[in-house]
Amino acid sequence: MIDRPRPIVGPDYLVAGRYRLQSKLGGGGMGAVWLAHDRLLDRDVAIKQVLSTAGLDEAEARTIRDRIVHEGRVAAKLSHEHAIAVYDVVLEAGEPWLVMEHLPSRSVARALGLVNALPVIEVAQIGAQVADALAAAHTVGIVHRDIKPGNILVADRGPGVGMAKLSDFGISRNVTEASDEPDGMITGTPAYLPPEVARGAQPTAASDVFSLGATLYTAIEGQPPFGMDDDSDAIVERAAMAQINPPTRSGALTRVLLHMMEPAPQRRPSMAQAREEILAAVFGPGAAGNILGAPVRTEDGTIPAWAARNSAAGLRSPRSGPLPRRARSQPPNPAPAPAQQIGRGGSGQSPSPTVAVTIGLLIGLVIIIVILMMVM
Ligand SMILES: Nc1ncnc2c1ncn2[C@@H]1O[C@H](COP(=O)(O)OP(=O)(O)OP(=O)(O)O)[C@@H](O)[C@H]1O
Ligand SMILES: [Mg+2]
Repeated sequence: MIDRPRPIVGPDYLVAGRYRLQSKLGGGGMGAVWLAHDRLLDRDVAIKQVLSTAGLDEAEARTIRDRIVHEGRVAAKLSHEHAIAVYDVVLEAGEPWLVMEHLPSRSVARALGLVNALPVIEVAQIGAQVADALAAAHTVGIVHRDIKPGNILVADRGPGVGMAKLSDFGISRNVTEASDEPDGMITGTPAYLPPEVARGAQPTAASDVFSLGATLYTAIEGQPPFGMDDDSDAIVERAAMAQINPPTRSGALTRVLLHMMEPAPQRRPSMAQAREEILAAVFGPGAAGNILGAPVRTEDGTIPAWAARNSAAGLRSPRSGPLPRRARSQPPNPAPAPAQQIGRGGSGQSPSPTVAVTIGLLIGLVIIIVILMMVM
């Protein structure tokens, strides 16, 4: 069993002789994320202790450390404008820390704490951007495994304000699953769990598609697809049975989200297809160039208030042209339109516009004549 003295981590603590901790950015399931300064490259970074090996025997701890370092190296190969870059994995006092790009931002989870739900058009942009990053990750064999509103960051100031980036590549495992990867060990956050993972299967690229669908669903509907329950076992049970509450506010994205959350993984779109489906459903064909690599915008092309700090709300970014919109299609079975009249006044039919205007003018004239007669 490892019984190393545990250093007191706090502001000014130097990690791996290079990264000086400054302040806490937030604390998630696996410990705090710190804003730190890289003394070598003289830049700000975000740094996070990935897990603690305290309580494990030396051999177990080494296996886990080696795997984390390996996964960090794989994640560091991914370079995408909608993914938080992994810069480094270092060992500090025997524990693995991940060094990432620092994005001054607000997560979608925090945005939902402010506004309850986000408009479809904004969620569609976030969805297409994150799907683009994940499609690139899947191409090089990286599965994220923990897509959720807390891991989608939207820049809230600076030149990139409004840009959405997916975080936690390379660290989306917890210490229990790290031991031996047995089937049956549940990974990820229950609210966004794909049915097959809830039943104990290993996460795959198709599970990422489900979790992204569940994350976008939550952002629009204001609650996750398996509902709210403090009892996480109950959520896992509902996930295992694919008991999704039907979306009611998802509008143009409804069909795409349900496709992404198909219970059978093989029936889901690939991540690249999901990106295309999202773009086509909300923005129409050929919209990718306007949405990917650009800030998230409101209908009128400005940075949404929930995504912006101080005076950034309502800003127009240099890259923010007006949003394209899908041409409104006819409803599938439009109600038969009332027969158009061509001014012939058939029985039981309403008069044509010309006849109506003439009648209106005549009535007006009669009223004026009556008023004049009464005055005289
Ligand atoms: N690269 C980053 N740059 C800036 N802020 C970050 C960065 N990564 C994380 N944060 C902030 O820290 C918060 C906590 O992140 P963390 O990943 O620890 O928590 P989480 O995603 O809620 O849970 P989990 O540990 O399960 O991923 C985030 O919500 C975000 O606000
Ligand atoms: Mg996170």
